[in-house]
Formats: sequence, structure tokens, C-alpha cells
Amino acid sequence: MNSPPWLWHKTPLRGAKEKGGEITKNLRIETNRLIITVFDETMAEILHRNSLDEDVQSYVPDEVFGTIEKAEKALEWFIGSYGSRKLLVYPILLKNGENIGYVQAVPFEEAWEIGYHIAKPHTGYGYATEAVQAFLPVIMDYLNISEIIGECHKDNLASRAVLEKCGFLLVKQGTQRRYIFCAAHAGIE
Ligand SMILES: CC(C)(COP(=O)(O)OP(=O)(O)OC[C@H]1O[C@@H](n2cnc3c(N)ncnc32)[C@H](O)[C@@H]1OP(=O)(O)O)[C@@H](O)C(=O)NCCC(=O)NCCS
Repeated sequence: MNSPPWLWHKTPLRGAKEKGGEITKNLRIETNRLIITVFDETMAEILHRNSLDEDVQSYVPDEVFGTIEKAEKALEWFIGSYGSRKLLVYPILLKNGENIGYVQAVPFEEAWEIGYHIAKPHTGYGYATEAVQAFLPVIMDYLNISEIIGECHKDNLASRAVLEKCGFLLVKQGTQRRYIFCAAHAGIE
């Protein structure tokens, strides 16, 4: 296939200038219906419960936290990574405080990758799209990157739809029936 001009592997994706980590430690993004903020230790049970969805088991099995203890360990890791340029994972809350999933940026080869999960009962309402659209500019600015990857299994049509609605374009089909998408965020040097 023809590659878009901003093909992800042709540009240095890791930011050259470091930014302070404060924003990632105190993140709070408010959209019309959602709040994206930092994890705290009280969220282990909901993280565990949300992760048991069939779609998570099929498409992102390494994001299944099968016990509360596993979720606690993951939370420790997530919280400990705030302020860094490693894994950056944030819960997505409804305005009533209900925790319905998460959105994340993780290192991917020489680049960064976006990830997201919305708990099954809350899917189909546009929440993933709303969260990713709000999260991208903030996290890309922090990481000082102008492009970011989205990866999904070929059969994960909902995830693919989220990426497309957020302006990602298909770059290539990777191994193991995975599609790799890329988004450029205008306005970042
Ligand atoms: C993928 C996921 C985040 C979507 O969350 P969501 O809040 O329902 O997403 P949105 O409502 O913003 O958008 C979903 C889109 O997919 C579409 N969709 C859902 N199921 C679909 C299917 N089987 N076929 C085609 N399109 C589908 C919806 O119609 C919607 O598009 P529309 O707004 O144009 O109608 C959620 O299903 C999930 O967490 N899945 C498990 C984890 C996962 O796969 N994460 C991504 C890893 S790559």
C-alpha cells in the first residue's frame, strides 16, 4: 500500500526536549461526559472487574488482571510510572465517579502507542472516542511527539472504528493479524 507522507517510522518519535512530569502525576482532563485522571490504590477491584470482559480477554489478554492482587500490582506499577516517560495509564470516569475503563500511552518500539478500554456495559456510547480525542493532545504534548501509533487486531472492529474516528490512518498490517494505524496531531512542532 502507499504510505502516508508522515509514515511513523521515518520520523524521530521520541521527544527531544524533556518536559516536567507534573502534568502526568496530576492529570485531570474533563470532557462533556468524562473525567480522565490518575489512578489511586482504591481502584484495584474495579480495575480487576472491568478487565474480565470477553473482548479484553480476546484482544488484549495481557491487560486482564485476573485477581484483585494482580490489579493491585498493576496499579502500583501505573502509579509509580506517573512523572516518567514509561507507561502512562489513566482511568476514565463518568461524571458520577464511576470507573468505566482507561486510556494509556505506552512505548512501542521507537515510538509511542495509544491504548484504551471501556467496560462492556458502557460500550457503544462513544466514550472511547471521547476519551482518546481528549487524551491525545495532552499526552502527545507531554511526550513531545507529533505522531502516535494505534494497533488493533484485524477483527477488533470497535477498536478500529475508534482509531478511525480519532483521525488515525492505516499504515500497515503487522504480524499476527494486527493492523497498525498512525495519527498525527496538528499543532505540535
Ligand atoms: C474498543 C472499545 C474501547 C470501544 O469502546 P466504545 O466506548 O464502545 O467505543 P466508541 O463508542 O467510541 O466507538 C466504537 C465504534 O465501534 C463501532 N463498533 C462497535 N462494534 C462494532 C462491530 N462489531 N463492527 C463494526 N463497528 C463496530 C461502533 O458502532 C462505534 O462506531 P460509531 O460511533 O461510528 O457507531 C471497547 O469495545 C473495548 O474496550 N474493547 C476491549 C478492549 C480493546 O479492544 N481495546 C483496544 C485494544 S486495540
